[in-house]
Amino acid sequence: MTETVDTSLDEQQKLELEAVEIKLLTEGIYQHYGFDFRDYSMPSLKRRIWKRVYAEGLSTVSGLQEKVLHDPACMESLLLDLSINTTAMFRDPTFYLAFRQKVVPLLRTYPFVRIWHAGCSTGEEVYSMAILLYEEGLYDRCRIYATDINEPVLQRAKEGIFPISSMKENTSNYIAAGGTGTFSEYYIAKYDYTIFRPSLRENVVFARHNLVTDATFNHFNVIFCRNVLIYFNSTLQERVQKLFLDSLEMFGILGLGKKETIKYLSVADNYEVIDLEERLYRRIR
Ligand SMILES: C[S@@+](CC[C@H](N)C(=O)[O-])C[C@H]1O[C@@H](n2cnc3c(N)ncnc32)[C@H](O)[C@@H]1O
Repeated sequence: MTETVDTSLDEQQKLELEAVEIKLLTEGIYQHYGFDFRDYSMPSLKRRIWKRVYAEGLSTVSGLQEKVLHDPACMESLLLDLSINTTAMFRDPTFYLAFRQKVVPLLRTYPFVRIWHAGCSTGEEVYSMAILLYEEGLYDRCRIYATDINEPVLQRAKEGIFPISSMKENTSNYIAAGGTGTFSEYYIAKYDYTIFRPSLRENVVFARHNLVTDATFNHFNVIFCRNVLIYFNSTLQERVQKLFLDSLEMFGILGLGKKETIKYLSVADNYEVIDLEERLYRRIR
């Protein structure tokens, strides 16, 4: 009599195997390409990896691992899947309003201001802040660095061309953010697109930078890192916040996204709160 072995996995075993495969995939990517997704928050990582598995016509995460390691184009596609690029101009307008009211007066006392937008995506945040700084008469004394892990989104940021369909929302955000001019003065409309004034990026350097694996590259008076850290687990948040602390001048400003906080991290004592609701902090030690 031949004995039959039950090779089917139960749900728990499937989850365990999937966790092993994801660990191997992220480790392989890190070793081979230097992109470190090992400490990205698991639920969204899993969803995005499976999206790429199916898009490549594969059926397992291990299959994707093989493809990604041997095909840089597949790695670039996965990179796009893994980085969530959602953004908007004057996103969370009250953040910009608080920045205008509480941070701009501090910046006025500086002869020169260095600003870093970390995780700038397609650049809407950068153009919004440039408009605000211009209206406050500060733009000319600012040097702005806008970075992202993702090359294609940076290319779009450099162009400063945004869909006309988003202008209604952008305009109302601009007004709610305390805009003092007329929003339409900052762009010209062409077919379905709007082309923003090139002067808004005159003082901006766009560059690829990986917050997880790359070192600090300058000292800044202001660092924005909005809606990026939500995708990192606490280990990674610790690491990136350490990078920001090393990159921020004393009394420099840190601006995070609405759902992000430094409260439970070891750097918390280095900052005082400027606006808790808007996640604006100032380095004090
Ligand atoms: C949701 S967007 C936020 C864009 C903008 N800051 C905002 O709040 O509207 C997150 C951005 O973080 C970038 N990102 C993710 N991981 C990164 C990393 N390790 N280093 C640099 N940028 C990263 C993504 O490519 C994406 O463009």
